[in-house]
Amino acid sequence: IRDLRDDELQGKRALVRVDFNVPLENGQVGDDTRIRAALPTIHALLERGARVILMSHLGRPKGAPDDRYSLFPVATHLAQLLEGPKVTFVRSTVGDYARRTTEEAALGAVVLLENTRFLPGEETNDDALAREMAQLGDVYVNDAFGAAHRAHASTEGVARHLRPAVAGLLMEKELAYLGRALAEPKRPFVAILGGAKISGKLDVISALLPKVDHMLIGGAMGNTFFRAMGLETGKSLVEPDRVDLARELLASAGDKLVLPSDAEVATELKEGAPSRTVARDGVGADEAMFDVGPRTVAEYGALVRGAKTVLWNGPMGVFETPPFDRGTLGVAHALVDATRAGATTIVGGGDSAAAIAQAGLEDQVTHVSTGGGASLEFLEGKELPGVAALDDA
Ligand code: 3PG
Repeated sequence: IRDLRDDELQGKRALVRVDFNVPLENGQVGDDTRIRAALPTIHALLERGARVILMSHLGRPKGAPDDRYSLFPVATHLAQLLEGPKVTFVRSTVGDYARRTTEEAALGAVVLLENTRFLPGEETNDDALAREMAQLGDVYVNDAFGAAHRAHASTEGVARHLRPAVAGLLMEKELAYLGRALAEPKRPFVAILGGAKISGKLDVISALLPKVDHMLIGGAMGNTFFRAMGLETGKSLVEPDRVDLARELLASAGDKLVLPSDAEVATELKEGAPSRTVARDGVGADEAMFDVGPRTVAEYGALVRGAKTVLWNGPMGVFETPPFDRGTLGVAHALVDATRAGATTIVGGGDSAAAIAQAGLEDQVTHVSTGGGASLEFLEGKELPGVAALDDA
């Protein structure tokens, strides 16, 4: 939006695609990180005299209205966060009523339209729907980094019919941090990858390996590598059909790819379950690895603290279930230390963002992405349709 001229905004309707896909708990917004992340764009547009028309998806309704996924609670929450500007919620997404509401909105007002995924044409990127959406604004702003990997009517199609089409401040910030980390990382550059499945991260591993100095693996993903090394993995989650691939990666990556040296194991996954720490070759046949062990936390911590750029995506263990949160928390603290020492530290969205928020450390790293799938696809080097569709792509 920085490049927009004042006459393109003054008194005009800025149709802003945001990612307000937030968790709802008992009809109220749970974690509001994504809503707060959109505030700078909303404020900037209001300050420049625009009327702000917001649209977003929420959850995965099946192309039809479904009260469980209404954005109404988000409108209430947004009004509280904005402290001033009136927020009008429209129970439709497109059509005459929605259009008239945008046209009649007062200067300085914010309008939030109902869930874009209540319309069957949203996910199919229907051109007629994109055209209708385009009638709701005079300029199009995409600030929904979290949904930028989706080529939907509200993220991609609409930009074909509404120009100027530009990035919002959050979108810009996300692309700047993630993009700079990949293009010109200060070294040492350390990536930490975790999470349950190797299959979901294979493309990221391949894309990042040539760029990083060290790639630290954690989470159940590591188990598949252990299996490939011929180690006993007991009852741990392993992807048997990826073992060969893990073996190939190990052979080609050399010592860049670092695996946990120990693990926290238990016979059942339960909060407070009795667990023990074992070396990675000491897992019993009836045990499962639910977290990395303390030696790994120390080893990974030392590499992270010595790095100038750190990129973290995916938890080290089942962090939702203590005591198996220690590995993930340990990594989070190492990132905070690295940040204090001047490193650029970036946390991918989704589970790792939730983990760092759970630890209350989200403000002590350089950047926490609001995009889960989107940040992964960006790191894989894929083009994001929501970005490609913009004038300033
Ligand atoms: C997300 O939560 O990652 C984005 O909002 C995209 O949601 P989706 O995976 O349902 O498209």
